[in-house]
Amino acid sequence: MNHTEYLDANKERFLNELLDLLRIPSVSADSKYAGDVKKTADFVAEKLKEAGADNVEVCATAGHPIVYGEKIFDANLPTVLVYGHYDVQPADPVELWHSPPFEPVIKQTEEHPEGAIYARGACDDKGQMYMHVKAFESMVKTNSLTCNVKFMIEGEEEVGSANLGTFIKANKEKLKADVVLVSDTSMIANDTPSIDVGLRGLAYMEVELVGPNRDLHSGVYGGAVANPATILCQMIASLHDENNHITIPGFYDDVIVVSDADRTEMAKAPFDLEAYKKDLAIDDVWGEKGYSTVERTSIRPTLEVNGIWGGYIGEGSKTVLPSKANAKISMRLVPGQNSHQISDLFKAHFEKIAPASMKVKVTPHHGGEPVLTPTDSIEFQAASKAMFKTFGKNPIPTRGGGSIPIIALFEAELGIKSLLMGFGLDSDALHSPNEKYGLFNYYKGIETIPYFYQFYAEMKK
Ligand code: BES
Ligand code: MN
Ligand code: MN
Repeated sequence: MNHTEYLDANKERFLNELLDLLRIPSVSADSKYAGDVKKTADFVAEKLKEAGADNVEVCATAGHPIVYGEKIFDANLPTVLVYGHYDVQPADPVELWHSPPFEPVIKQTEEHPEGAIYARGACDDKGQMYMHVKAFESMVKTNSLTCNVKFMIEGEEEVGSANLGTFIKANKEKLKADVVLVSDTSMIANDTPSIDVGLRGLAYMEVELVGPNRDLHSGVYGGAVANPATILCQMIASLHDENNHITIPGFYDDVIVVSDADRTEMAKAPFDLEAYKKDLAIDDVWGEKGYSTVERTSIRPTLEVNGIWGGYIGEGSKTVLPSKANAKISMRLVPGQNSHQISDLFKAHFEKIAPASMKVKVTPHHGGEPVLTPTDSIEFQAASKAMFKTFGKNPIPTRGGGSIPIIALFEAELGIKSLLMGFGLDSDALHSPNEKYGLFNYYKGIETIPYFYQFYAEMKK
């Protein structure tokens, strides 16, 4: 039996196991779920063991545990380090889900005629991570594993991977490998495979403006005392100019400019603006002048308000001039930019533009560095060949808009490149209500991954 026959014979079980995994609410951001996060780590460890991994451990950290497992059978063969995460984003706002976020259901959609699994984490990243466990099982059970394998599955990706860096630094020898294989990104469409060759970095800030020492009667004081909510809106609005360029001095200084030739090449990848607008129910797109929608979400840095609050937001009305207003603001960074430097630039600028009527506090949260990976590498070629085998088309190299901060650290600490072979779709509603993952995508991943191992081992010889 080969690995595709094994997959065919075990399809139903492979699906049911993923559904069980999705039923455990491993929300890393919310301490209320810490027990479930641990349960999920144990589940993944158990499944790795059953699949044939040795030395499986649930490694405790200062936060949520890291699951490790390996199969080393020939020191002369290349070693693949599989990275993924078993934690998920909070499901809020829960009332917008059509079915409970941790009770997976399968429904057909226009994009997923074979059916899609609806659940928090279906695509990001339980579904994509679990493909690797099942692909590994398929290779082990059919005696077709061609590389040594190490699994490192973490539970803190969605909260900034604070403890994974320490783990990597402390376990360099144990994690020694030739390449990191990751499925935690998207491809263009189910009939248009692609591989991300870049990810953006992230600088995440929280700001607070304090005006008067207490909430005030807006009739007695309004018009005479600066309102932190109004000033915060003005300050935030000033961070983009009329062309939607970011106004923080020095923000673009280190951006590595993508050549016109590369932009022309990238523009050849299929992108349907009308379908994009329709999916989001928007009548128009927005963004930095001089760049396409795809460029705005890949090769250009951005600044977004992720949350803003202050004043009275309860039922009915309350005539109040709030004492405080806050916002969470994040910036996506591109190669050349550094998250610490950008955090400093933001802080200095935001403090500078605050009027004398306000006390301003800027607190940086976690961040991460952008990455670029080559297309002329053996791993990219092997992945290309694997996808050609199962999709009948060569994957298009693309640059992803999201961030996986730990990828830059793999390169810095372990000295190895990552291969971002994602099987999700941007429209799978990652981090949103009604997240989904296509059955086509799940099975296609399990089918494709073993070919990567096969071609990678052949090409590494
Ligand atoms: N899997 C995503 C990143 C991603 C999604 C990359 C789609 C490319 C395409 C990951 O789980 C994620 O959400 N990362 C966070 C960063 C983290 C520090 C919270 C992000 O991008 O916001
Ligand atoms: Mn993810
Ligand atoms: Mn995510």
